[in-house]
Amino acid sequence: MIEPSNNEIDIVKSSNTKIHDVDFNNLTFGKTFTDHMFVCDYIDGSWQQPKIMPYQAMTFEPSARVFHYGQAVFEGMKAYKDENGKIWLFRPDENHSRINKSAARLAMPEFPKDYFFNGLTNLLKLDKDWIKPGLGNSLYIRPFVIATEPAISASPANSYRFIIICSPAKAYYTGKVRVLFAQQYSRSADGGVGFAKAAGNYAAQFYPTSLAQKKGYQQIIWTDARTHEFLEEAGTMNIFFRVNNKLITAPNNDRILDGITRKSLLQLAEDNQIDFEVRPISVNEIKEAARNGSLKEIFGAGTAAVVSPISAFEHDNEVFEIPNTEDSYASMFKEQLQNIQHNLSEDKHHWRYEVK
Ligand code: COI
Repeated sequence: MIEPSNNEIDIVKSSNTKIHDVDFNNLTFGKTFTDHMFVCDYIDGSWQQPKIMPYQAMTFEPSARVFHYGQAVFEGMKAYKDENGKIWLFRPDENHSRINKSAARLAMPEFPKDYFFNGLTNLLKLDKDWIKPGLGNSLYIRPFVIATEPAISASPANSYRFIIICSPAKAYYTGKVRVLFAQQYSRSADGGVGFAKAAGNYAAQFYPTSLAQKKGYQQIIWTDARTHEFLEEAGTMNIFFRVNNKLITAPNNDRILDGITRKSLLQLAEDNQIDFEVRPISVNEIKEAARNGSLKEIFGAGTAAVVSPISAFEHDNEVFEIPNTEDSYASMFKEQLQNIQHNLSEDKHHWRYEVK
């Protein structure tokens, strides 16, 4: 792990704080931002002097390539504060390597690891009062990169901006989530960018998701674009199915996001001696399991969503309600994961990273 320093960062502190205007008990996800942000430009083949400055609006030329071709990638991470005021990140090197994989797929430059960690740690130290202790509280961190070059020929930019903004967060979904299994639209295809956290992957879901929402579903579970027969991911989270006592999730491929919460839950399943399979899951298999009572749970896993139980799904105009399970895997995983994240339990896989 890289040792953070602030040697190379220009820091301009905010002259006042907005923190006193924030009701931390009533946060809407992603609407409130901390006092500072991290910014680093890429010009002529190299990353420039990184900066931390007050959170503020930015100016870009209307011809900036990001506005035309969506050359943009992002990450989602969280910081937690324990009861002793220590600040923790969860598997941050996974986010660093994933943003670089996403960037490579979109023909964007990789961001150096020492810049990433220096930026994050210095930003979090400045905005530490925005991280509230207690399970369920976190600071959502959004690193992202956009193509800033003012030019509208359809080719990769030669200038970029890497930015980190932070937003205090509680739950992403409140209550159980109802989902529609995709039959018409697709999120991603073979050889595409589904595995990357590319901004356009999310924009492409908004219209079909809005149709699902009109029918009373918060999310779509995307199926493979070729046959719509296999369940893949929910767009804001990876998906797990529990059939009897077996946990099943789809394998990583170029259509599905390589979720950090997903891989952590698979490790927790192993630690808890829960039988699991990573394999294609068919819509028919899950409908059959729902009919014969062996489908015990469906839940989503993601940084923002943490572990979110799904209470019902619809496919082919047929609605399946999933009854409550007493010994829920979702609740167990959520508790174990949050205890690790908040420094309340042993971290045997070395997932926690202290910000100091
Ligand atoms: C995350 O879980 O961090 C995500 O990127 C999902 C996002 C749509 C909020």
